[in-house]
Parts: sequence; structure tokens; C-alpha cells
Amino acid sequence: MPTAQTNFNLEEFLAEKKILIENHLKAVLAPKEPATQLWQAMEYSSLNGGKRLRGILCLTAADAIQMGMSSTIIPLAAAIECIHTMSLIHDDLPCMDNDDLRRGKATCHVKFNEETALLAGDALLIEGLNLLSKVELPSPKIVEIIQVVTSAVGAYGMTGGQMIDLENTNKNGVTLDELEKMHEMKTGAFLKASVLVGAIAAGANDSQVKALSKYSENIGLAFQIIDDILDLKSDSATLGKTVGKDEEQKKATYPRLLGFEVAEQKAYELVKEAKESLQNAHINSTQLCKIAEYIIERNY
Ligand code: IPE
Ligand code: IPE
Ligand code: MG
Ligand code: MG
Ligand code: MG
Repeated sequence: MPTAQTNFNLEEFLAEKKILIENHLKAVLAPKEPATQLWQAMEYSSLNGGKRLRGILCLTAADAIQMGMSSTIIPLAAAIECIHTMSLIHDDLPCMDNDDLRRGKATCHVKFNEETALLAGDALLIEGLNLLSKVELPSPKIVEIIQVVTSAVGAYGMTGGQMIDLENTNKNGVTLDELEKMHEMKTGAFLKASVLVGAIAAGANDSQVKALSKYSENIGLAFQIIDDILDLKSDSATLGKTVGKDEEQKKATYPRLLGFEVAEQKAYELVKEAKESLQNAHINSTQLCKIAEYIIERNY
């Protein structure tokens, strides 16, 4: 395994990257006029919470290809986190998962109201795309990055996956293939895009893109499997979300279909393969390996 860097402290690494991303988010999302309540809702949902995993993956993938690159693409990571927050606000709406707790706080529609939450999600998506378009990279790279992100968030990716999630809710007989496809679309696609954005920005070659694609597909699926498991096993104070919601709403999940132990085993296997794919392409990134491990070992 390419985990040779012995003095690496993951906690410090994540904290450091999180601050960089959040400082940028604070500057971009400070409440403005007019429509001040919209900005307040965008800021409220985007700041004070969140692991920033997708933004950190973007920065870390960039450094894995070209060390030092991450410092020039902080706006890309912030943009990714804006788009991710949109997905959370909309996922929590009464017409979706109807959740009242997110990142340890009242969800956006509970704190403000449903209409504001809907619009805050819309605006975060668009501000995120706007940020991507303005980053200091050559235009062809920006176009490629926007194509990767919009494909991952649209009907073939997250939005389509969320539709399938709703269709699979309360349904018997969802197959493993269907469940895997749903997870790949609703969660995996955007997580993969986050990694690829960093890789493209740093000028990754075809074999590096291929290896990072496999890495991110695997950790993306493992991420949602663990999310499903935490919904069953964790407590609301630790998770910052209401636990037991998937069971209550009869969601299609890995532990529901396979049982808790087989689901967890699957996540571990996926992470092992993710690290092997980096090794096979000679991408020696202790950071990417440790983030993959963190995805299955996290408790929130
Ligand atoms: C939660 O994502 C939504 C899913 C795709 C399962 P995270 O667990 O990354 O949420 P934050 O950003 O840390 O709150
Ligand atoms: C949501 O999956 C995936 C998204 C695209 C936001 P979940 O519905 O399981 O996410 P949580 O558990 O509410 O964060
Ligand atoms: Mg959901
Ligand atoms: Mg949800
Ligand atoms: Mg969940």
C-alpha cells in the first residue's frame, strides 16, 4: 500500500484543509443585499458544520498529481462544498426525507421556511457553478471541470439518484444491483467528480485519471454504505442528524438488504481496492489512502 509517510496526522491534515475551505466559503457567502434572508440561509447551512470531505478530496487529489497545486484551487473546493450543501438542504425538505436536524442544527427549512430552503439550495448550486467558472485556470480546463461537475449533479448523477431513492422508498424487492446504481448516482457520482476536478486542475494524465476514477467510485459507494450504517448505529448527538430515519421511512439501504455485517465488509473491501488502484498507477498519496480509511472508520 502507498502509505509510507509515517508521521502523517490525518486529524491535523483534515482540520487544516477544512479551515482553508471554510475561510473561502465565509468570504463568498457572507449575507448580502438584496434578498438578505436568502444569503442568511445559504450561510447558515453552509457554515458551522460539515466534514468538507468532498472539498478536501478535491484538494488532496490535486496535490497527489502535482504537489502544492491545492493552494491555488481553494475556490474549486469551496464551490464543491456549496453544491454539496444544496444537496443536503433539498434532501432534508419535507417533500424529500423530511429531516429536522442537519450538522447538529435545525435544517434550513425548519430554521427559515420551506420556500427559503428551496431557494437557498438553488442559489448555492448556481453560486457554486459560478465559482467554478471563475477559477484561475486555462479556459479548456474550466470547461472540462464544469462538464464533470454538471454531469455528476444532473439527471444522470445525483438528481437522478435522488429520484430513484424516492421511488425505492417503501418498496419491496429492490435488488442489490438497483441499490448499487442508486448509491452510485445519488452519492458516488459527485464524490467522484470532486476527486476528478482536483486531478484535472493539476493536469493528471489518462492513467492517473483512470486510477483516481476507480479510487473515487469505490470510496463513493463505501461512503454511502457507511452513511446507511451510521443511520442505524450512531446517535443523533454524534451524527448531527436524526438516527433511525432510513428504517422509519423504509429506505432502500445496504444494511437493510444485506445485513449490517455484510454491508460493512463490502465497504472495507471497496476501500482496500481503492487504495490498490492508486498503488497500481504509482500515485503515492498517503493522504488519499488515509482519507479512504477515514470514510469507513468515521463515526459521523
Ligand atoms: C451526507 O454527506 C450526505 C450524503 C451524501 C450521505 P456528508 O456526511 O459528507 O455531510 P457533511 O458535509 O459532513 O455534513
Ligand atoms: C443523501 O442520502 C444523498 C444526497 C444526495 C444528499 P441520505 O438521505 O442518506 O443523506 P443523509 O443521511 O440525509 O445525510
Ligand atoms: Mg435522502
Ligand atoms: Mg436524507
Ligand atoms: Mg443517510
